[in-house]
Amino acid sequence: MDKIRVHGGHPLSGSIKVSGSKNSSLPILAATLLTREPCVVHGVPDLSDTHYMLQILMHLGAQVERASGTVSVTAEKVHSVAPYDIVRKMRASVCVLGPSLGRCKEATVALPGGCVIGDRPIDLHLKGFEALGAAVRVEGGDIKVFAPKLKGAVINMQGKFGPTVLGTDNIMMAAVLADGVTVIEGPAQEPEVVDLANFLNEMGAKIEGAGTRRIVIEGVPALHGAEHWVIPDRIEAGTFLVAGAMAGEGVTVKRVEPEHVRAVTDALARCGYAVDIGDDSITILPNGEATAQDLVTEPYPGFPTDMQAQMCALLSTSRGTSSVTENIFPRRYMHVAELKRLGAKLRLEGATAVIDGVDRLLGAPVMASDLRASAALVLAGLKADGTTEVSRVYHIDRGYEHLDEKLMELGAHIERVKET
Ligand code: EPU
Repeated sequence: MDKIRVHGGHPLSGSIKVSGSKNSSLPILAATLLTREPCVVHGVPDLSDTHYMLQILMHLGAQVERASGTVSVTAEKVHSVAPYDIVRKMRASVCVLGPSLGRCKEATVALPGGCVIGDRPIDLHLKGFEALGAAVRVEGGDIKVFAPKLKGAVINMQGKFGPTVLGTDNIMMAAVLADGVTVIEGPAQEPEVVDLANFLNEMGAKIEGAGTRRIVIEGVPALHGAEHWVIPDRIEAGTFLVAGAMAGEGVTVKRVEPEHVRAVTDALARCGYAVDIGDDSITILPNGEATAQDLVTEPYPGFPTDMQAQMCALLSTSRGTSSVTENIFPRRYMHVAELKRLGAKLRLEGATAVIDGVDRLLGAPVMASDLRASAALVLAGLKADGTTEVSRVYHIDRGYEHLDEKLMELGAHIERVKET
């Protein structure tokens, strides 16, 4: 198992290019199962999660070719059973349920297991499939969904913690080939949902309203092949902006859609950073001492849960007392104990982290626990005096394309070492 060693205190400067979005690529790759014809997806990041998704597609019978960031998938003949030993590696595997059901009118996917960021039910996905006319059974750890015919319906995607992103994706992918019209009320409005809808429309689907509070899907008899560029990864962009804020002397993040990261740039501006927003680039500059603030995670366009850990790292050294409230995954705070090992002062009050800013962090060995928590620890290491060793970096490799190399390009003193 690799670890990342960060020698803190070396200022970052220059520019980096954001990779294609992980959370767009995963459902878009799954959507290629909806047609017999070849699909080409560009900008797929080189991550373990995208590799797992391609393994699943191949297991389901698709032909897959990958050359750099371009993936070609031809799913001429597919079957619909995704077993546990593949699915367990990645929770997002659940998004093959929708296209498998749409295409094969049945799907069996192992129920994803527990997840370190909290309980992650899929009741809303299943309720949506049932509304489309499917029968749903959980048997031997598998979810089995089948419907001789899918029929358009009105489906609400709101749960206790807001709408579900992959649930919205799954229902869109099942409904594109259903008879009649499906209306998704209260869908997730994340840019990745819009990207998937655009890809499906390029395949011949009829979807309107993605990115708004109501999605209308008119079912079509068949989809055809398509070629698509995935959108830039807004969470990677946000992570580099926070790195630039914590340890930078002027960092430019390129190939970004500024509107997608507005909640993050607004938060950084409120902390006192100078944020210069271009057409497809954002520069962050230090601007005196950063100040505390109160943040709440919300569904898009609110502040993203996937940036919460990184902001906790930043606020750990901002002047005053901050609070960060996690509204999407209330237990997503594995980074708190590890940040404390670097000298940060945080305490949890229910789903809120109360953070008293300290003058300095001091490097220490810490353990990565999930993707975003791990990124937060690397960022804290850039700011800390001395050396921080982040172990179990396979979590980072799940969702950040070459994070260590990109940080090195910005001047970070960081190395990847093999753990013995
Ligand atoms: N929820 C339910 N019932 C469901 C589905 C979800 O109650 O059937 C709840 C969840 O427990 C959570 C909330 O609804 O409290 C939102 O969960 P959502 O379903 O939207 O999460 P997801 O679709 O499984 C995606 C991203 C996550 C990101 C969340 C929230 C992908 C592959 N994953 O997960 O990304 O945190 O949306 O924005 O798109 C990450 O990239 O690090 C990551 C975890």
